[in-house]
Amino acid sequence: MKIIRTVAELRAATEVAGRIALVPTMGNLHAGHLSLVQQARQHADCVVTSIFVNPLQFGPNEDYASYPRTFEVDCQKLEAAGCDIVFAPTVDALYPVPQQVTVNPPPIANDLCGAFRPGHFAGVLTVVLKLMNIVQPDVAVFGKKDYQQLFIIRAMVEQLNVPVQIIGAEIVRAGDALALSSRNSYLSDPERMAAVQLNRALQGVRDGLAAGRREFAALEQAAQQALAAAGWKVDYVTVREAATLAPATADTRYFVILGAAWLGRTRLIDNIEYAA
Ligand code: PAF
Repeated sequence: MKIIRTVAELRAATEVAGRIALVPTMGNLHAGHLSLVQQARQHADCVVTSIFVNPLQFGPNEDYASYPRTFEVDCQKLEAAGCDIVFAPTVDALYPVPQQVTVNPPPIANDLCGAFRPGHFAGVLTVVLKLMNIVQPDVAVFGKKDYQQLFIIRAMVEQLNVPVQIIGAEIVRAGDALALSSRNSYLSDPERMAAVQLNRALQGVRDGLAAGRREFAALEQAAQQALAAAGWKVDYVTVREAATLAPATADTRYFVILGAAWLGRTRLIDNIEYAA
């Protein structure tokens, strides 16, 4: 497995690499990321995993500085998972001049997580497009835990004619159903035990839908109240159409229930898809 730090070296290494799959990450890799690498493996001769904590997608009061950086261990895991190239540029290598040209995301980027993280998805799209232009992959794999991110990346690729096939990979969960996330490492032991409550709240909404209930606001409110009562600060719990992320209606058959909430100083997100 090659570890590459510069754009020029990456270009040289991928020139004769055959079919390329890109797995963009910010490092601190867990089994969820490794499942992306394994899926990438099935689609390509050469798997490139990028590790880059992208300053452009963090707000001024967010966790850019404290985001867990575990490069050595990440590389060991990637090698074992069958990755061919780790692309880990410095901030200067990826942003050699101030990044004045950015991708303007679609309106949905101001909703859900975007309503609480202004500018986040412009930062995500800009770095993802740069990585795609640098690596020139045939396919790129993203996790469905960041459902809104995956949706917005698909929109960018479609609407800007980026010649990359996007693969959405299923959420990998811990034994208690907590979605794996690098930010789970911020949780104290008691918080880690309580963290599954977010998934339970979403499951409660799913159970309501499965029982035929369609008063979405009441279902959302019940979930938010359950979380608040357990000490969470809820950003949102919402029932949407899976294909469009528009609010669900009486005609919706394929739902996604999305939630974001703070447990102490850790913001967790999760979602559940449900076909009625
Ligand atoms: O999902 C992430 O880890 C990041 O948003 C991504 C896609 C690697 C872009 O920095």
